[in-house]
Formats: sequence, structure tokens, C-alpha cells
Amino acid sequence: MPAAAGLLVLWATAVLHWSAARASQRAVAAKAPEESSASSSSSTAAVRTRFSPFPFLLRYAVAPMVAQSDLPFRLLTRRYGATVCYTPMLYAARLVEDEAYRRDAIDFDPASNGTAPGADRPLIVQFAANDPATLVEAARIVQHLVDAVDINLGCPQDRAREGHYGSYLLARRDWPLVRDMVRACHDALSVPVTCKIRLLDSFDDTLAFCRMLEDAGCAMIAVHARKRGSDKRRRVGPADLAQVARLRTLLRVPILANGNIRCFEDAEANLRATGAEGVMSAEAILACPRLFAADAALRQAPAAEMAREYLSECLNCISPPPLHWISDHVHNIVRAHIERNKWPDLRARLKAVGRERPHAEGLGPQSRSSEEQSLRAQEYAHGFAAMEGVLVEVEQRLAALHQQGGADAARALVQQQRALKRKEKAAEEEPVTGLFVEE
Ligand SMILES: Cc1cc2nc3c(=O)[nH]c(=O)nc-3n(C[C@H](O)[C@H](O)[C@H](O)COP(=O)(O)O)c2cc1C
Repeated sequence: MPAAAGLLVLWATAVLHWSAARASQRAVAAKAPEESSASSSSSTAAVRTRFSPFPFLLRYAVAPMVAQSDLPFRLLTRRYGATVCYTPMLYAARLVEDEAYRRDAIDFDPASNGTAPGADRPLIVQFAANDPATLVEAARIVQHLVDAVDINLGCPQDRAREGHYGSYLLARRDWPLVRDMVRACHDALSVPVTCKIRLLDSFDDTLAFCRMLEDAGCAMIAVHARKRGSDKRRRVGPADLAQVARLRTLLRVPILANGNIRCFEDAEANLRATGAEGVMSAEAILACPRLFAADAALRQAPAAEMAREYLSECLNCISPPPLHWISDHVHNIVRAHIERNKWPDLRARLKAVGRERPHAEGLGPQSRSSEEQSLRAQEYAHGFAAMEGVLVEVEQRLAALHQQGGADAARALVQQQRALKRKEKAAEEEPVTGLFVEE
């Protein structure tokens, strides 16, 4: 079959698959609320058929990260194997009401739209929300730029408690509200709705909650396999991936397993262990944006090289992220060196970038006046120079350590050889005993 015809068949298959999945979801979601109640228990569960409404691979997902899963970072991770990315969490109500927020928060690739998805796709936009109508209104503003709309049901921070969103919607009294949000999105949007959750108190509760999501029309669930913890202890301890594996056999929608990834090998092991359609990474991919690259040599590139690659992605953006997000990225990438070698001065230099000046909040067409624009440009130039200075310093200190290590190793070898020679000489001089005894 000629290549073009092959592509056409692939495309048609994906579209058919997608339509079938949407039809099936609509049928399920059309059930009466009582029927799709959130009370099913694991004892009655059977393995069910799974639909993936997504015409792309979920396998390697870049997590939603406030102030970190920005456009240049997403583009960078995609270059190295990420198959789908999330935006940082956006506040649905603010997106609807606040024009300035809307201008700054929507960092999506300007070249992308419904008919010509650009380089930053597949993309899932995540929302903090607690009202179905507001969520739908916010989602409608961006749905033509994304492949799915996600509801944050996992954020444990104090501000999520105060604003009543994230993991604070996992309480049983809020299940009807969550169900209504999912159903409203499912019915009103042109793209699927997905949810990112944490584990509930018991496995049965988590399963019942997920079934409620499925029945309301949720097309995929990302499971951060930890319970809520607290604002200060958000990601402490290992994630319970065994629960994800059990959920995977009992739910019909695709699952992303989130937690316990330090390196590529962990990602692969987690996929095998959970059977999930994909894994999601946050902290490990911040430290190594090439985490999902199949080629180990790419993943092991020097940190400064990866940091510079991110900086150059920022420079290519029409509207780069705020300067302190950028310096946090650079810090995350070189952090292992800074911590292992105890270089707090370099950490402090990075942490100062973008935080000491008032205008460094985003740069680009959304900036208001040309005077402000030029002030910001100066600040970015200053900030980029400071970050480059730190990267050069990291490289020089590592080279010095390497040299020092080499010199230490050479000195140790010479000492070893000298000790060996002394031993040989002493053995030659020692009188032979046992064979001839001199009286
Ligand atoms: C800097 C940062 C920002 C985060 N922001 C969000 C967010 O906006 N929405 C969300 O659902 N989770 C957020 N998380 C949680 C991650 O998506 C992820 O669930 C968690 O870090 C566990 O994954 P990991 O073990 O790979 O880090 C954030 C995590 C980090 C490190």
C-alpha cells in the first residue's frame, strides 16, 4: 500500500475508534444518576472492555505542574519521547472572569488550532474547578487548542482546601458534584474529559469513585497512587502502584500510573507492573527532561547541556514563561550536582533570578505597553545571563572535581606501585627460612 493510502487508513481507523468510544461513553453517561451511582464495590466487579478515545499513545505522560509544565518544557520533553503533556493547572473561574489571567495562563502553542495541531500536541489542559457550568465555560475557551480537558482531583495544598478543589473533592459528600462536572464536560465539549485523582482511604472507595467517573463519561483516569497527605508532605513515601494494577483490571477506561519514577527503567517497570496504558512523571522529568528518551546516551547527557536546551526553547517562544519558572527549571536540572556537592551559593544565585525584579512576569504579545515590554526584555536578558553564569560555574566545578578525582586516582596508583615494590624488595632481603637453617 502506498504510504499516503496507509496514513489515510490509519487516520480513518482512529476516527472510527474515537466515534465508537464517544458513542459508548454517551450511552453510559445517559443513564439515570441512580443507575450510575457511585456505590459499586470491588466484590461485584468483573473485567470490562476498555475503550481509548485517544488517537495517540498515552504511554509517556508529562504531569500537570503549576509553574513548571510550561510550553517550552513540554516541547523539550516531547522531543525526547513524551507522548502526551498536561498544562499546569488553570483556575476555571479565573479563566472565565479575568482577562489578564486568561492572557497569561494560556501559553498554548499559537501555531496550534483544531485543524492544524502544532508541535505542542497531544495536550491535556487541567482545571481546578468546583462548578459544572463554570468549568464548561472555561473549557470552551480552550477546547479547540487541546486534546482533552482534565479535572484536578488530587491537589492536596492548603489553597485547594480553602478553594474547595483538587483532592478536597474526593470526600464522599462531593461525589455528586464531581459527577456533575464530568458529565457536563462530557455532554458539552468537543474533546474528552479526563480526571487526575489520588487514592482514597480504602481501595473499595477508590474503585467506587473511579467507576462513578467512568459512568459520568470520564475518558481516562490518571492515578497519583498516594493518599492526600498534607500541604507539607505531598509526595512523601512510595506510591502504592499495586492499587493502580488492581484498578487497571477493574476499570474500562485507560489509566495513567503516577508515582515511583526516578528514571526511564522505573517507567518501563511501572508500565509492566501496573498494566496501565501509560505512566506519568513530574519530579523526575523536571530533573531530566529527556527522561522518556529510549536512547540511554541521550538521557545521560550533561545537566548543563539539558538546561541550555531548555533555555533555548524559551528563547524560541513568542511568549516565554515567567523568569522565575525558568530559573526553577534550570535549578531542577542541575539540582543533583548542587545538592551532592553542597554548592548552596549556586542554588541561591538561581533562586534569585526573576524574583528580585518586578517586571519579569512573562514576556511577549500579552505585555501591555512598549515601555513595560522593553523593561521585561532587559530583565530577561539579565536573568538569562545570570543562569548561563551558573551553568558555566557548574561545568567548571565539575571539571575541577573530575581532575581532582583523576589526580587522586593517579596518586593512589603510584602509592600502590611503590608499596608493591617495597614489599618485593623486603621479600628479597628476608632470609629464607624453613629450607636451610643456619646454625
Ligand atoms: C512542581 C510541581 C507542580 C505540580 N503541579 C500540579 C498540578 O498543577 N496539578 C496536579 O494535578 N498535580 C500537580 N503536581 C503533582 C504531580 O502532577 C504528580 O502527581 C506528583 O508530583 C507525583 O508524581 P512524581 O512522583 O512523578 O513527582 C505537581 C508536582 C510538582 C513537582
